[in-house]
Amino acid sequence: MTRDIEQRKRDHLNLAQEKALNFSISAGFDRWRFIHNALPEINLHEIDTHTTFLGKELQFPLLISSMSGGVEESFNLNANLATAAESVGCALGLGSIRAALENEKVRNSFLVARKNAPTAIIMANLGIAQIMGSQSMDKVSSFCSDLEANALIIHLNPLQEAFQSGGDTHFKGALNAIKTWVHEFPLPIIIKEVGQGLSLDVVARLEGIGVEIIDIAGAGGSNWISIEGERLAADQRVLKQSAHEFANWGEPTAEILENLETDQFVIASGGLKQPLDLAKALALGANMGGIAGPLLRHAMTGDVSGTIDQLLVWKKTLEMAMFGVGACTINELIGNRLLLRKID
Ligand SMILES: Cc1cc2nc3c(=O)[nH]c(=O)nc-3n(C[C@H](O)[C@H](O)[C@H](O)COP(=O)(O)O)c2cc1C
Repeated sequence: MTRDIEQRKRDHLNLAQEKALNFSISAGFDRWRFIHNALPEINLHEIDTHTTFLGKELQFPLLISSMSGGVEESFNLNANLATAAESVGCALGLGSIRAALENEKVRNSFLVARKNAPTAIIMANLGIAQIMGSQSMDKVSSFCSDLEANALIIHLNPLQEAFQSGGDTHFKGALNAIKTWVHEFPLPIIIKEVGQGLSLDVVARLEGIGVEIIDIAGAGGSNWISIEGERLAADQRVLKQSAHEFANWGEPTAEILENLETDQFVIASGGLKQPLDLAKALALGANMGGIAGPLLRHAMTGDVSGTIDQLLVWKKTLEMAMFGVGACTINELIGNRLLLRKID
């Protein structure tokens, strides 16, 4: 079982770098452009990209979305991402901690994150299947303490599990399980998808049971149905072929934001490909953006300064966009759709 998880994690890290397994539809940010403001009435040096998340200050509202842990390759990945997050002042989501809960030997691939990022916001991650199944709250909480995690992210991934060989497809009762964890787990709980998106109805149901932070993780970037389809062996050809039919299944991230009305703290991830997409996501109403796939290449090759530079370009672009539209603070940007024009 443990060896299966390790092989899967390894495959994920390799396949997620293949462009062909990304969505061919976009997340929808290309349908929006900022209206240039030649009279911003602010000074560039006064632009303030700081934000507050989970009671801590971030240099800018970006989350390195959950990726990995549990295999040798992810030790370096998490070490690099944590060093980068600490250096630029953004938040870091770790990949699913399931492997560490089932095998003590791989715990270091997660613990290295806190070692390299002593002050950053770090979040642990688990699938809904583990929450509903074998993992006790005490055990998860104890590992979160070891990580000094600031929150626990729970991912909802029904179709990824359905196309994964041996995936766990028991989703009946998931909302109730989330409700229990939201009210009883000692850390804040964040609910996310993995790239198919949280629809408006799902967001409303989550809000109804008290979920205060969501990551909509919509379509447009990494596609976990396509990746699982690619991993399926030839003797599962019917399932494998069916996966192709879902190559563009999901709620594009910008489309969710356009129609979303909620009091929750909203993280927008999934298909933010260009740094300007972060500024657009904020203007469309997100409180923070998240990226996973775009960071993988630099971080996997051990290019820490390249990863830091990449993140700094996202921060600088946000700052320049704020100047270009005349928004001095992040709060002046968030949800300010008048700054955008839709291209039809
Ligand atoms: C290599 C890799 C591994 C991932 N593993 C996890 C995971 O363990 N848990 C999770 O919630 N999401 C996981 N994701 C999904 C991302 O957090 C994110 O929601 C998704 O990739 C969409 O963002 P993107 O388009 O920027 O890649 C993973 C993504 C990548 C690229």
